[in-house]
Amino acid sequence: MTTKVPFYVHDLGEREIAQVREVLKGRILTTGEYVHQFEREFAQCLGRRHAVALNSCTGGIHLSLLALGVGPGDEVITTPLTFIASSTAIIEAGAKPVFVDVEPDTGNLDANRVKAAITKRTKAILPVHLFGLMCDMRALRAIADAHGLRIVEDSAHCIEGRRDGVGPAEFGDTACFSFFATKNMTCGEGGAIATDNERVAADILALSNHGMTKTSNDRFREGYKHWDMPEFGWKYNLSNIQAAMLLPQFERLEPNLRKREALAQRYAERLKGVPSVQVMATREEAIHARHLFPVRIVAKDRDAVLEQLKAAGIETVVNYRAIHLLSYFRKTLGYKPGDFPIAEKLGDQLISLPFYPNMPMAHVDRVCDVLQEITGH
Ligand SMILES: Cc1ncc(COP(=O)(O)O)c(C=O)c1O
Repeated sequence: MTTKVPFYVHDLGEREIAQVREVLKGRILTTGEYVHQFEREFAQCLGRRHAVALNSCTGGIHLSLLALGVGPGDEVITTPLTFIASSTAIIEAGAKPVFVDVEPDTGNLDANRVKAAITKRTKAILPVHLFGLMCDMRALRAIADAHGLRIVEDSAHCIEGRRDGVGPAEFGDTACFSFFATKNMTCGEGGAIATDNERVAADILALSNHGMTKTSNDRFREGYKHWDMPEFGWKYNLSNIQAAMLLPQFERLEPNLRKREALAQRYAERLKGVPSVQVMATREEAIHARHLFPVRIVAKDRDAVLEQLKAAGIETVVNYRAIHLLSYFRKTLGYKPGDFPIAEKLGDQLISLPFYPNMPMAHVDRVCDVLQEITGH
């Protein structure tokens, strides 16, 4: 019988169940004290002044852009090698994503290419810390400062990462996080922004609650009072149930990172002898958050390898095919093959291998054995 190797298995357990049970025994299922406790602890864990919990990272990017004054007619420079939400959130804000190509060894937005893409309409840069490796924030901040631009970090893959001593939301105006089902912290669906800017945090909070001046938790605490809606807003708040699931995960962040780092080292070690499979690079000065473990399939057909891994019982995904070539972006923004050759090449080569904190080392070995077999080395 072939060993089944799952792509991801969550590690939520009794502590999360106990916390959720506490919420269910209480009266406030929606945004309340558990959410506010989560916001305080999340800001503290990142070393930032403020965090606002939301129901997705996509919503966090959307509201960050709005709170920073980005809107219709504006351009936001970003990467085509990412999940679509990095760019659909720009479009939701009314602005236009302008792609620049990526670094060939990491897949991250190439800071050296950003300047050439700046126009009179550019308002912001939206780097994505791909796979958990932070972009070069010192370089991006210098460019942003020289041109009066804002920075919104898509940190969906990167809670624990640092680079050059800089963490998420330290050099950016905000950083946006995802607690989607496979992320390093998860409550099934959820998100947050972090920022040092009090005004931006307050605006994002109001925008996430229909633009209302009172929340349902205020009503619970103070009794009903009339409220106003000074601005238009969205419905992006997180519930107490989800926050309760997230709270016990803070103390597992570091041990889980150590486990993922050990798995990554084993993969790298084992794959050294497999010339058709190349591990993505990291940077010396970085702590890699190790959200995913992608490899490049070189000199072989990636899609054929995907099929063979599937046939061997090994689950994989592709993060990502270059998004400017998806039908919507071609149709609306006029992009075509050849526009961003490095992102396109990586998009044709990448496979994300099974990777999660409690993954057995024997499964890493199994994946490597099968890859070796398939690629003929
Ligand atoms: C790079 C990146 N950005 C944004 C998102 C969107 O996150 P969410 O599903 O929380 O909106 C994801 C989710 O997978 C992602 O991987």
